[in-house]
Amino acid sequence: TDPLRLGIAGLGTVGTGVVRIIRQKAKLLEARAGRPVTISAVSARSKGKDRGVSLGDYAWEDDPVALAQRDDVDVFVELVGGDEGPAKDAVEAAIAAGKDVVTANKALLAHHGHALALAAEEAGRVIRFEAAVAGGIPVVKALTEGLAGNDMTRVMGVMNGTCNYILTRMQSAGLAYDEVFQEASDLGYLEADPQLDVGGIDAAHKLALLASIAFGTQVDFGAVEMEGIGAITIEDIHHAADMGYRIKLLGVAQMTGRGLEQRMTPCLVPSGSPLGTLEGGTNMVVLEGDNVEQVVLRGPGAGMGPTASAVMSDVMDIARGFRLPTFGQPATTLERAQPAAAGTP
Ligand code: NDP
Ligand code: HSE
Repeated sequence: TDPLRLGIAGLGTVGTGVVRIIRQKAKLLEARAGRPVTISAVSARSKGKDRGVSLGDYAWEDDPVALAQRDDVDVFVELVGGDEGPAKDAVEAAIAAGKDVVTANKALLAHHGHALALAAEEAGRVIRFEAAVAGGIPVVKALTEGLAGNDMTRVMGVMNGTCNYILTRMQSAGLAYDEVFQEASDLGYLEADPQLDVGGIDAAHKLALLASIAFGTQVDFGAVEMEGIGAITIEDIHHAADMGYRIKLLGVAQMTGRGLEQRMTPCLVPSGSPLGTLEGGTNMVVLEGDNVEQVVLRGPGAGMGPTASAVMSDVMDIARGFRLPTFGQPATTLERAQPAAAGTP
């Protein structure tokens, strides 16, 4: 059988994790997909950098756009990051060249997801983004496939590993913000611009993507009401604990009589509740639908292994011939939601 040939752009935390899985689990992946999954070519900024993983005899491209256009690439795997620039150029080039796309880039999709999904559909290609939301938790798959028989009523949860790590480690280890921040960085949790994490923006990107799938609406990141954790002090964390609460950066998306409400803000949750017991980089997503009532997913929200695991879920779907539309239904059928006015309860 023909192999599924990947071109991987970005060999940082996530990209090297994906290369590692494909090298270590070639036989298992082939058995599960019914065909080999191989890497034809890779791209990153610095060719000579030691990445702690063998790049075998993969071809090298300095430019992700050139990688996306190669004849020996069936699926373009975008792990560069950023909502503009090389990531966007290369994803557009990949679609134009007739490639499927797998990406972990929530910023790109929160800003341009609808246009990219339309372009992909017109070209008969798919864009998959399991890794973009809640790291290793298969939440996109749960919503698009497992819960496809529901009218979703609410999606909520903790969706940024960095913020949860900072909020919990400052309390449990008694460490200063700078030390905890460095730990999160060492674990590979941070965005290239960490203000996206602590400002609540990264989590808001994820919420906007989930809301699109859950409610059949076009991604509307601009309508997310958001506030990060930058103003929260260690005293706030201790006061909350004294009262029996933990502070969590919590997102909620729900369709109300006033329109689609999307909020990502720090909230107090009871210490002993499922959300209150989330430690470190763990994420939790709560999915509510008319038939299923409530499904709760919990798992690692960031880092090499968990995120690469999610990327591979998409790669394996494509290898097996599952061609699900980007947001779970054709982009041409997604409605523009009326956003609920900011500040409404
Ligand atoms: P890194 O910063 O670790 O890696 C980025 C990679 O992109 C590097 O290999 C870098 O090259 C390469 N790169 C940057 N600019 C260019 C360019 N102009 N041309 C070619 N290559 C370039 O990021 P992550 O692996 O952490 O994140 C990648 C994506 O995954 C982002 O979209 C992020 O939001 C997303 N993500 C990350 C998670 C995580 O836990 N880290 C979790 C979920 C999603 P070089 O190495 O040579 O500098
Ligand atoms: N920076 C993100 C986080 C990575 O901390 O959750 C996973 O999306």
